[in-house]
Amino acid sequence: MSQAFPQTKKIDLRKYGMSSCKILLSSIALVCTLVMLAQVPALASGDIAKGAYIFKTAGCTGCHTRDEDRKNGILLAGGRAFKTPFGTYYSPNISPDPSGIGTWSKENFLNALRHGINPDGANYFPVFPYVSYTKMSDQDVLHLWAYMKTLKPVARKNQDHDVNIIFGSRFLMTFWKLMNFQAGALQPDPDKDKTWNRGRYLVDALGHCGECHTPRDSLGALKGGMYLSGTSNGPDGNTVPNITPDKKTGIGGWTVDDFDSLLSMGMLPDGDFVGGSMGEAIENTESLTDTDRKAIAIYLKTIPAISQKIEKSKSKK
Ligand code: HEC
Ligand code: HEC
Repeated sequence: MSQAFPQTKKIDLRKYGMSSCKILLSSIALVCTLVMLAQVPALASGDIAKGAYIFKTAGCTGCHTRDEDRKNGILLAGGRAFKTPFGTYYSPNISPDPSGIGTWSKENFLNALRHGINPDGANYFPVFPYVSYTKMSDQDVLHLWAYMKTLKPVARKNQDHDVNIIFGSRFLMTFWKLMNFQAGALQPDPDKDKTWNRGRYLVDALGHCGECHTPRDSLGALKGGMYLSGTSNGPDGNTVPNITPDKKTGIGGWTVDDFDSLLSMGMLPDGDFVGGSMGEAIENTESLTDTDRKAIAIYLKTIPAISQKIEKSKSKK
């Protein structure tokens, strides 16, 4: 990858008594080590069944399928519009057709999700939530890839984005990424148990809950210090509630069972059902295993409580 190795100061090894030959040999050894490191982990193959579970949890279908296509069983052909303050983006075809990503290698796929770059090396716009997906493990990306290759190819040309000149420039995204994006799989926190770490992985990497529940700054970057505290300016201008454990403005009173009812069937503690974009998110969480749903609840109960009052969305259903 083009992730540069940290710049090191030039040191004249001759001063330390090394001959040119030794320098040459150790340079070769260093290069060999770097090449080996660059190949680790060897991109093995993925498991289709595991990939199907990840695909569902990560919610790839919703964004890459237009409502009218879905009714006709046409999946992943793209063309769904995303209205943002910067203009309208359209999702591309990600079915395994040559007009989609049918000609891609698994390395191309990994680069898209991990680094937000296309096979030509150009940047993606963060409306494709790679800021979250970068946290997926290599192995999960490979499972996902194995599964996606089994889906039905759909031939459809991608639609161009209709956005302003700055937010339509893949080149200028380089600067956005430098400021707002850090590539890399989420590393388990050794001080926390397996369930908590799994919950965090489901929330931050696969479920990309923060893409809706964390407020954004004027450049569309997620405000780290306001993690999951809600926003009155979520996707399509909808309000998204504060889901931190703040007792007054968040969901500090929720039990593990409350989370379970929400994530499995969209039911809130008062018996009402969530609507709008959370309805779509429930399609991603409803088939999670009980253990995974519980892990999400356990993790969310431990995140910092942030007091931020979000007026309830009027646009239910
Ligand atoms: C919130 C909506 C959203 C979700 C969820 C989403 N995508 Fe996308 N995706 C997009 C948009 C919009 C683009 C176009 C980005 C661009 O043009 O820079 C995109 C681009 C892509 C591309 C690049 C395709 C190309 O032709 O270059 C791939 C691959 C991709 N998505 C795969 C996935 C996978 C796999 C998932 C699930 C893990 C997923 N997406 C989930 C919105 C989404
Ligand atoms: C596509 C945007 C989106 C994503 C992704 C998303 N949510 Fe939501 N969420 C919403 C919206 C919008 C609501 C409010 C729905 C309503 O009031 O009908 C909501 C409501 C909720 C609520 C109910 C809070 C309350 O006070 O009523 C919880 C809990 C929740 N989401 C958790 C999650 C978790 C956990 C994830 C990740 C697995 C997630 N959400 C992903 C948009 C999203």
